[in-house]
Amino acid sequence: MADLETNLLKFKGYYFRNERFNINLLENTDDFEVRDDDVFLVTYPKSGTIWCQQILSLIYFEEHRKRTEHLETADRVPYFEYMFEKLDFDESPSPRLFTTHLPYYLVPRGLKNKKAKIIYVYRNPKDVMCSYFYFVNMLPIFKAADTIEEFMKQFLEGKVMGSLWFDHIRGWYEHRSHFNIQFMAYEEMKKDLRSSVLKLCKFLGKDLSGEAVDDVVRQATFESMKDDPLANYENVLNTRVGVTRREGHFLRKGTIGDWKNHMTVEQNERFDKIFQEQMKDFPLQFLWDINEISN
Ligand code: PPS
Repeated sequence: MADLETNLLKFKGYYFRNERFNINLLENTDDFEVRDDDVFLVTYPKSGTIWCQQILSLIYFEEHRKRTEHLETADRVPYFEYMFEKLDFDESPSPRLFTTHLPYYLVPRGLKNKKAKIIYVYRNPKDVMCSYFYFVNMLPIFKAADTIEEFMKQFLEGKVMGSLWFDHIRGWYEHRSHFNIQFMAYEEMKKDLRSSVLKLCKFLGKDLSGEAVDDVVRQATFESMKDDPLANYENVLNTRVGVTRREGHFLRKGTIGDWKNHMTVEQNERFDKIFQEQMKDFPLQFLWDINEISN
């Protein structure tokens, strides 16, 4: 059901963006035939999706690594629930790589045979929120927010695409035993990209040479991606998503702790209180400050 106030679409208890939403697929996800070598990249929005799309493209496709192909990264690892291009997933060659923001309970049931792989990338939610604040103000498909305060309310109520951050990560983590899933922290990727790429290769069963791993790492840094129109979504933004309302980029700052430049002490304390209530006993750790990784 479309929510005119938020410009979102609520379907099966979860908020989607109200545009290019693949309702036919989502109504019949149980019929979707998952292949053993499928890979699903799962994220809550603004947690490192584009980054990991790029890493997966580089790991899987040599021509991507050699920059001899001209396919958008976004098309190499297309969204499952949104249709940016007319893709027939049944006809797509293997291995298929998908991107999704879906909660654990809406993904195809076939993923529970634990053969296909899932990578779940998570990021500290204050940085997610700040990144998201710029994002809703950048794309005309979203309801803009004038202040962080206004957006923080929506974010903490889960009235955003992706619904409540706490539910998303908890849901996936608590149901992890049903899936073949690897959790990856944005901040760990930032801290040591090479180790993160190697960890992903191991999980995916991809045996890349040292040189190829170096190529992946080099082309997956924030700076390289910012300069690469196939990776940084500038083309996607200009040709598919729509004209920007205010200036902005998908690759904005790419750092840890930018929330400190945006949240007041009071907002931070309010956020912390809710975080502690919601994430009590949650075992994954979060890094909140770039200085935590430079020591
Ligand atoms: S989306 O719209 O959900 O697909 O957004 P998503 O890609 O999940 O998140 C965007 C944020 O990821 C940052 N990003 C990176 N950080 C570090 N290194 C690399 N290579 C990289 N690529 C993308 C991007 O800058 C967004 O974060 P912010 O904080 O807004 O800069």
